[in-house]
Amino acid sequence: MIYTVLLPAAGSGKRMGAGQNKLFLELRNVPILIHTLRVFDRDPNCEQIVLAVKKEEKVLIERLLKEYRVTKVSAIAEGGEERQHSVYAGLKAITTKGIVLVHDAARPFIHQVVIQQLVQAAHTSGAAVAAVRAKDTMKKAVNGIIQETIDRESLWIIQTPQAFQYTILEKAERLAEVENFLGTDEAMLVERLGERVHIVESTYDNVKMTTREDLLYGEAILNKREQ
Ligand code: CTP
Ligand code: MG
Repeated sequence: MIYTVLLPAAGSGKRMGAGQNKLFLELRNVPILIHTLRVFDRDPNCEQIVLAVKKEEKVLIERLLKEYRVTKVSAIAEGGEERQHSVYAGLKAITTKGIVLVHDAARPFIHQVVIQQLVQAAHTSGAAVAAVRAKDTMKKAVNGIIQETIDRESLWIIQTPQAFQYTILEKAERLAEVENFLGTDEAMLVERLGERVHIVESTYDNVKMTTREDLLYGEAILNKREQ
């Protein structure tokens, strides 16, 4: 089933501490951004890729797209101060109104099978997110004192992609902007509409390149996949 992917790429990578947008850092000599783009460029079900980037990085990114022969990018929107603003800017640049996947440009290891399950779930039910089960015991604490142990069975660690029917996500983003509400992910905005958001079980290797250690893990994942 066909979909459009929106990749927010306009962050600054503060936690990575590289002094530049972490998406330009390389894993096995290829920029993280390109690894992520390749997943979708090579997926026959992906119709178009829309990027949200920083204004001052647009030229560099266009150069990378050429260099690495990425062909499906149909629009490059100007990102905003917060990730949510970047996603909304990208959404406005999408021309087809079917299924939209929002995926962190910093998660290069998403599996094709999870993508297809998300697209299918969003098509059937409106909204679905990739997630994995919490592995550790989870507790709630206030000021360093444990308040309660939370039943792990009901806890999920949420990733991206997050998949939506275009009209649902558009309405959620518009409402959030009008009400000046800042969420931590797209699903949260859609939950506010009273829509049900489904979970699609993903894999633990769909990590977001966030801190230095993630790069080591990322190299290891690539090495294993190329064996
Ligand atoms: N992102 C974006 N616009 C922003 C902030 C983030 O498009 N204003 C993108 C990032 O480029 C990344 C994704 O959202 O692909 C997930 O964000 P995160 O991992 O937090 O990346 P950064 O914001 O760049 O990192 P940090 O929070 O450490 O500064
Ligand atoms: Mg961030």
